[in-house]
Formats: sequence, structure tokens, C-alpha cells
Amino acid sequence: PRSIYLTRHGESEYNRMGRLGGDSPLSENGMKYARRLREYFEKENVRDLRIWSSQKIRAAQTASFLKDLAAHTEFWKPLEEIDAGICEGLTYEEIASRYPKQFNDRDKDKYHYRYPSGESYEDLVARLEPVIMELERQSNVLVVSHQAVLRCILAYFYNVNPSELPYVKVPLHSVLKLTPVAYGCNAETIPFNI
Ligand code: F6P
Repeated sequence: PRSIYLTRHGESEYNRMGRLGGDSPLSENGMKYARRLREYFEKENVRDLRIWSSQKIRAAQTASFLKDLAAHTEFWKPLEEIDAGICEGLTYEEIASRYPKQFNDRDKDKYHYRYPSGESYEDLVARLEPVIMELERQSNVLVVSHQAVLRCILAYFYNVNPSELPYVKVPLHSVLKLTPVAYGCNAETIPFNI
């Protein structure tokens, strides 16, 4: 069976601090995950595996652990995380205290809310459209990206509606394996204990 694999990068230094976005490297745990991910793909033994990674350091680092298992690795700018604009690098607590109105507005309509100087989930869906179109024609691809981006990709394959899309659960340190079946596709979540 031909599958598409999705994963977030391993835990980053910013993830550890609860900070949004940025371009921090992997933490110790994040590296551990990258090694476990490699072991997983050694066992999966996917023929002609292609890796599509975000260009952010934490994603590229994660992908680099699997480099020699893949036929090739590509770095896609559109796979980068949602741009949180003026809130990049802040924690949710900091956003709530510095920009209470923004924080509430986002909570009220998370799909359409656009960060000042940044993006909304709606923007992200538009940015990802070409990637998703390409992904649909492919198999044996591992996508190494970020929480919000993977929510949009999953929502596409599972017809999740916009109001629920920003809440789809995409935990760190797990692989989502999508396998097309007669109508739609099967999803398997493989969690790793790091
Ligand atoms: O915290 C990790 C992260 O990927 C941030 O970079 C991003 O802003 C956020 O998750 C997206 O999740 P949410 O839309 O729920 O804030």
C-alpha cells in the first residue's frame, strides 16, 4: 500500500518555552525524536521515499536524520508554520496580557482571525493549496512540517470544516500515516514515547 506520512518537527527550544513560531533548533528531546523517526522509517522500508520539509531549522534538522533513507529531500517554503506576525516569539500568556483584544478575537473565530502582520488559518489553506494538489498525486512522501500546517493538510483529506480545522489534534512526536482506500483514506497515528 502507498502512503503519505505527516509529522511535526521534533520538539524545538521554543516549544519547550511555549513560544510561538520563530526559528529555533531542536531540543535534546527533539533530537531523540528525530532518531526514533529514523528507526521507524528503517522498519517501514518505504520504496522511493521522498521527504518534503519546511525550511525552518527545526524541520530541516528533523529531516536531516533521515536523509540517506530518502530518494530525495526537498525544502518547501509553503510548508512553514503559520506566521503569527506581531505575536511571533511570544507565549500565549504574553499575548493575552499584551494584546488582550487580539487574543479574544482569535478565540472567537480562530479560522478567520489574521495575526497583525501575519496570517490566518484561511490564509494558510490558500498558501497550501498547491502543495496539497501535488501531495494528492503522490505517495511515499514524508511531510515534515508544523502544527497549523498539518491541521490544514489533515482537514483537506478528512473534510474537516473550517470552524473545527484550527483545533485538529496534531501532537508532537507522532507520525500520521495516511493510506488511500476506496473512498477517502485511512489514518493511523503512531505516537512515540520520548
Ligand atoms: O506552538 C507551536 C506552534 O506551531 C506555533 O508556532 C504556532 O503559532 C502554533 O503552534 C499554531 O497553533 P495554534 O493555532 O493553536 O496557536
